[in-house]
Amino acid sequence: MILVTGGAGFIGTNFVLDWVAAVGEPVVNLDKLTYAGNIENLASLQGDARHVFVQGDIGDTALVARLLAQYQVRAVVNFAAESHVDRSIHGPAAFIETNVVGTFGLLEAVRQYWGQLPEPEKAAFRFLHVSTDEVYGSLRASDPAFTEENKYEPNSPYSASKAASDHLVRAYHHTYGLPVLTTNCSNNYGPFHFPEKLIPLMIVNALAGKSLPVYGDGQQVRDWLYVRDHCSAIRAVLEAGRLGETYNVGGWNEKPNLEIVHTVCALLDERRPRADGQSYATQIAYVTDRPGHDRRYAIDARKIERELGWKPAETFDTGIRKTVDWYLENPEWVARVQSGAYREWVSTNYSERTTA
Ligand code: NAD
Ligand code: TYD
Repeated sequence: MILVTGGAGFIGTNFVLDWVAAVGEPVVNLDKLTYAGNIENLASLQGDARHVFVQGDIGDTALVARLLAQYQVRAVVNFAAESHVDRSIHGPAAFIETNVVGTFGLLEAVRQYWGQLPEPEKAAFRFLHVSTDEVYGSLRASDPAFTEENKYEPNSPYSASKAASDHLVRAYHHTYGLPVLTTNCSNNYGPFHFPEKLIPLMIVNALAGKSLPVYGDGQQVRDWLYVRDHCSAIRAVLEAGRLGETYNVGGWNEKPNLEIVHTVCALLDERRPRADGQSYATQIAYVTDRPGHDRRYAIDARKIERELGWKPAETFDTGIRKTVDWYLENPEWVARVQSGAYREWVSTNYSERTTA
């Protein structure tokens, strides 16, 4: 059995669904269900013994220790985090609490459990920490893409908290020998993406007739990775990654934000034309820039390809079409997320259940 943390968030949801379908090994999913956690995403696994959901905090070492022992966990994949840069600017405390203190608590529980495992389980155990390219800081237009050798230069409270957790993970390997793996990926997009991040926000705002807020000049560059490609990369690293190593995961899709917004608008114009015949692009509004906004991220994903044979399956063109179609086909998901109704389901469904 594997323990996935943050498995009710955007990437965690996709990972759990893909894992159960592709691997079939049971998953214990530990998620605190913050605003970003939506257990309705995993409704298709209800009643499936391969998915055990537990609401709780990664920093709760007693709970984590109990789950590790009870389910004889062979690997942990740590997605749980506060993940939104803008929220980290308005309220950094939660980022320190979960991303730094929480990861520390998780590592402590895992270290204790792993230390008592008999061989060969001890040698086979894995702790995979999911991190971000944002820890490397901002690139100039002429700089080469981030490799695993780039130094850490985090600029936002979010990226600083992720960098701190990456350092703890590294230290637990170096000091205690904990068998860790770290992945640093670029901006994910795809189904179940909470509409506070660029791509889903633009899709849902466009359809709702709202403005499409572009920060600053819209020329900030990100690399875009289709979420299911990220999931396959994590499976590859978990299976064959070298212990203590870091793997950068990217989609080879560097694009300025404004181009992303225009692409989304063009797809919506094609698939769901506005009643007045105008383009959704007329809804674009330039708004004040994000403080400390990183100008460019780019990922050099050659190491994971060289060592593990992983390459993304989607181009941006194929991935963004799938994404826009998913949002068009799931208006109820969007409505329940926007109204907050998805949170009621948790109390309805879980209040009378005991945790596993
Ligand atoms: P998300 O915000 O959608 O989901 C995070 C999940 O973690 C939620 O389900 C939330 O309830 C849960 N959580 C938060 N605090 C918790 C705690 N203390 N204990 C247990 N669960 C908790 O995030 P995401 O986009 O799915 O990102 C997952 C991971 O990938 C994060 O570590 C993030 O830093 C990293 N990452 C994301 C991206 C991206 O583009 N989304 C890019 C690079 C790295
Ligand atoms: P985001 O999805 O928040 O991811 P990150 O900041 O982690 O890269 O933002 C992606 C880019 O889009 C980033 O440069 C900020 C920009 N952006 C906007 O221009 N408008 C918006 O409303 C949002 C949410 C983001």
